[in-house]
Amino acid sequence: MSHLSGRTTIVVGASRGLGHGIATAFAEAGAPVVAVSRTPGEFPEPANGEGSIHAVLADAGDATVAGRLLDLHEPLNLIVVAGANPHMRPLQQHTWETFSANWESDVRITFHWLREVLLKPLRPGARVVVVSSGAALAGSPLSGGYAGAKATQRFITGYAQDEAQRAGLDISFTTVLPRMTPLTELGRSAARAYAVRNGQSQEEYLQQMGPLLTPEIAGSSLVELVGSQAEAVAPGYLLTGAGLKKLG
Ligand SMILES: NC(=O)c1ccc[n+]([C@@H]2O[C@H](COP(=O)([O-])OP(=O)(O)OC[C@H]3O[C@@H](n4cnc5c(N)ncnc54)[C@H](OP(=O)(O)O)[C@@H]3O)[C@@H](O)[C@H]2O)c1
Repeated sequence: MSHLSGRTTIVVGASRGLGHGIATAFAEAGAPVVAVSRTPGEFPEPANGEGSIHAVLADAGDATVAGRLLDLHEPLNLIVVAGANPHMRPLQQHTWETFSANWESDVRITFHWLREVLLKPLRPGARVVVVSSGAALAGSPLSGGYAGAKATQRFITGYAQDEAQRAGLDISFTTVLPRMTPLTELGRSAARAYAVRNGQSQEEYLQQMGPLLTPEIAGSSLVELVGSQAEAVAPGYLLTGAGLKKLG
């Protein structure tokens, strides 16, 4: 038996990119996966017969969706990956709507899902991982409010951990901050914009980034994280092509 067999895992934002890699890896590790997104994704049949992927089409930012899916599936793992692709342009070329897009998606989604986790609450031993961004540490001058929104996801996750402890709930919350990768739709447009900004070709820009984070590495890293002892889990991790690194 795999260590994830029977641990229903909801992956929010799983149709493509990092979320797709994470959903695929959890199913491969034996978990029944509920893959949430607004458009359908295609998933390979898990070679491990215990795992499965059940796709649900829903807007994760809708206030009713989190509560409904948590009640229906009673997950032991929740991975919140979904986020909007930010408009890549300098500050003065943003409108308030483009600047605040990630607050209206990424922050809204994290708020609704973590609030519902605490209200329900999820069962003892449940694990919650929120995917933020390395931009939350370093800023991201071409993507408007993106870096601030990703930092707020990290704050919300910390607040949820604190509320869970105060209420005596055995639920662990942690944040994972991926480094930019051009191997997803979101990362590709960011890498293209920063290459132009630096006067570099995309190849030059990518070369200086070192080993790239792939959706497969994101998947295996999160399977490892969720499979580790809850007491050993840190509040936050950087995620690169080399895997997870605890944030100090
Ligand atoms: N790629 C990078 O370089 C990078 C770096 C740091 C952090 N991140 C973070 O990692 C996460 C995933 O990024 P990615 O690069 O994999 O992006 P992506 O390729 O654009 O995928 C985003 C996923 O989120 C889903 N999604 C977005 N809004 C949703 C909503 N309202 N309801 C349900 N699903 C929704 C999308 O599905 P639908 O469109 O079908 O709904 C898609 O499956 C994001 O939070 C991003 O900020 C990415």
